[in-house]
Amino acid sequence: MRRIQHFLTLLDLPPATLRGIIRRASELKHLQRTGKPHTTLQGKVLAMIFEKSSTRTRVSFEAGMSQLGGSAMFLSPRDTQLGRGEPIEDTARVLSRMVDCVMIRTFAHTNIVRFAEHSHVPVINGLTDLYHPCQLLADMQTFFEHRGDIQGHTVTWVGDGNNMCHSYINAARQFDFQLRIACPHGYEPDAKILATAGKCVRVVREPSAAVEGTDLVVTDTWVSMGQEKEKQHRQAAFAPYKVTRELMAFAAPDALFMHCLPAYRGMEVEAEILDAPDSVVWNEAENRLHAQKALLEFLLGD
Ligand code: CP
Ligand code: NVA
Repeated sequence: MRRIQHFLTLLDLPPATLRGIIRRASELKHLQRTGKPHTTLQGKVLAMIFEKSSTRTRVSFEAGMSQLGGSAMFLSPRDTQLGRGEPIEDTARVLSRMVDCVMIRTFAHTNIVRFAEHSHVPVINGLTDLYHPCQLLADMQTFFEHRGDIQGHTVTWVGDGNNMCHSYINAARQFDFQLRIACPHGYEPDAKILATAGKCVRVVREPSAAVEGTDLVVTDTWVSMGQEKEKQHRQAAFAPYKVTRELMAFAAPDALFMHCLPAYRGMEVEAEILDAPDSVVWNEAENRLHAQKALLEFLLGD
């Protein structure tokens, strides 16, 4: 069988390919904004399996496929046989005989790996407990559009060592930037993922030291999907890691702030940072659409 190119983590594609996808994403953004048709995936069908909630991921993939001339279908475990115990492997075999690509948002990363191993079509990670690579395509596109190439720059992650943080670690390796991670004890990123990154990633406990002179500050919710029961405990542990105006003042004068959203104003970030007139988080959210269209073209195009 021909090797199928999946996108389960940022490490699945070489750096030059990732950069090509980001370039194309900006082109597609221009085509979209100027009303120029770009139906490069006519007749192609994307199946989207969501085991967790979503606004951005669902809408951007669905709108993106439609703008490219194809279509997307939303599948929830509640009304498919997956939710009644049909094995992941069998679902992969069947779906991949009917559609051209499958996007999955699930809990355990091993679920998506198992699915991909039995799929005849490309599988895209729409978020697992371990990674969120599509968000990183959009974040990198946003940095490139506002500040140029991220190579050699410094990025600071403030908060939980979660799926987004893991994808930032992979991005530091692939795009060649320095990543500092400010997180409380007990909430570090996965030790193995951290170890693979070598010198380009460092854990710096003190938020102000981690942010000092940085070019991009990124945070995320303190309570990811599936961690709702830990909410109180987490809010106490993360309180010193809120992104405030005072913390941003330690960063480079033109530093950007990003958040994958949904954001909890007054928790991980002060409202005024998100709502500032120069906030790029809305552009970052929009870029999910363009970056994923470029990814779909790359995986499904001729
Ligand atoms: N950032 C992100 O993936 O948002 P959704 O959960 O709304 O898809
Ligand atoms: N870390 C968050 C990201 C949401 C897009 C979560 O997994 O819930």
